[in-house]
Amino acid sequence: MSFKEYIDSNKERFLNELFDLIRIPSVSAVSEHNNDTRNAAKFLFNQFKSLGMDNCEICETKGHPIVYAEKIIDKKLPTVLVYGHYDVQPVDPIELWDTEPFEPTIKKTDIHPEGAIFARGSCDDKGQMFMHLKAVEVLNNNGGLTCNMKFMIEGEEEIGSDNLETFVKENKDKLDCDIIIVSDTGMINKTTPSITVGLRGLAYLEVELTGPNRDLHSGHYGGSVANPINSLAKMIASLHDENHKVTIPGFYDNVIEYTNEQRKKDGEIPFDIDEFKDSLHIKDVLGEKDYTTVERRSIRPCLDVNGIWGGYTEEGSKTVIPSKAYAKISMRLVSNQDWKNISSLFSDHMKKITPNGMEIKINEHHGGQPYLTSTDSKAYTAASKAYFEVFGKEPFAVKDGGSIPIIAQFEKELGVKTILMGFGLDSDAIHSPNEHFGLSNFFNGIETITNFYKFYK
Ligand code: BES
Ligand code: MN
Ligand code: MN
Repeated sequence: MSFKEYIDSNKERFLNELFDLIRIPSVSAVSEHNNDTRNAAKFLFNQFKSLGMDNCEICETKGHPIVYAEKIIDKKLPTVLVYGHYDVQPVDPIELWDTEPFEPTIKKTDIHPEGAIFARGSCDDKGQMFMHLKAVEVLNNNGGLTCNMKFMIEGEEEIGSDNLETFVKENKDKLDCDIIIVSDTGMINKTTPSITVGLRGLAYLEVELTGPNRDLHSGHYGGSVANPINSLAKMIASLHDENHKVTIPGFYDNVIEYTNEQRKKDGEIPFDIDEFKDSLHIKDVLGEKDYTTVERRSIRPCLDVNGIWGGYTEEGSKTVIPSKAYAKISMRLVSNQDWKNISSLFSDHMKKITPNGMEIKINEHHGGQPYLTSTDSKAYTAASKAYFEVFGKEPFAVKDGGSIPIIAQFEKELGVKTILMGFGLDSDAIHSPNEHFGLSNFFNGIETITNFYKFYK
């Protein structure tokens, strides 16, 4: 039987198993869900057992557990480590979901006429991670594994992977491998595959600006004292110049500049700017001068406010000058920016531009380093061939705007590169209401991953 035939004759069961995993609301950010994250880990543990994996383990951490499993068939053969995450983002705003976020529902869309699975985690990352478990099943039933396999699935990716970082540092022997494979990114469109060779890093901070010692009557005091919301808005506005460059001194110091040749090559990756604008209902794009939209969201760093609050925001009006204003600000970074360095440049600069008489406090949330790899490896070639068999096209090598901070950490601690074989689409709405994952993306993904092992020997 071919891999495809095996997959085709087991589709229904594969989906039902994935649905059981999706039904567990393993939201890592919300402690009320701590039992659910544990149950998702147990579910995976049982799956690995039934796949015949050895040394299946639920590894405790200070936070949510890590699930580990392995199958060593021959020490002389190469070892592949699969990484993924079973935790998901919170579902809010829940009122914008058309179906229950944790009850997977198959619906047709324009992009997925064959149907897509609507549910939180369907794409990021339960659906994508689960493809790797099913690939093992396909191999088990079609000649067996061809290399050693290790799985490490964590429950804290969406909250920064802090405990996984410690786990990796403390378990270097256990995690020893030749290559890491991850499906937690996207492809260009349904019929155009890509392998992600770059991820952006992240520096995420929270700012608290304090003016007067208490909220003030805005008539008594208005016009005579600085308002922290006005001031914070001005400070934030000054973080970009007229060319939409970030104004923090030193921000661009270590940014890789690509040659015109490389930029031209990357420019051949299919991208339709009108479709991009239409899909977001925007009339125009905005970003750093002299770079294309694709470049702005992949090879260039950026700074964005993720949330801003203070003063009176409830119903009706209240005439008040607030004592405090807050903002959450994140910066996406590229090689070779260092997130700790960028965080401190940000803090120093914000302190410097704080108006006289105001007090600023800055808290670091989390961060991660950017990742970059080349297409010049045995594993990349194997992945490329695997895609070609399923999609009839060679995948494009793309740099992605998102972040998976642990990937750079793997390289640093284990000295191992990662191949990012993503099957999600931009339109899958990960982190948003109505997240979904195309059925054909799921089944093609399983087949592509299985093929990888045929070529990686
Ligand atoms: N799977 C995403 C990252 C991703 C998505 C990369 C699409 C490339 C394309 C991951 O789960 C994620 O959401 N990462 C966070 C980082 C984290 C520290 C919270 C992100 O990018 O915001
Ligand atoms: Mn993810
Ligand atoms: Mn995510």
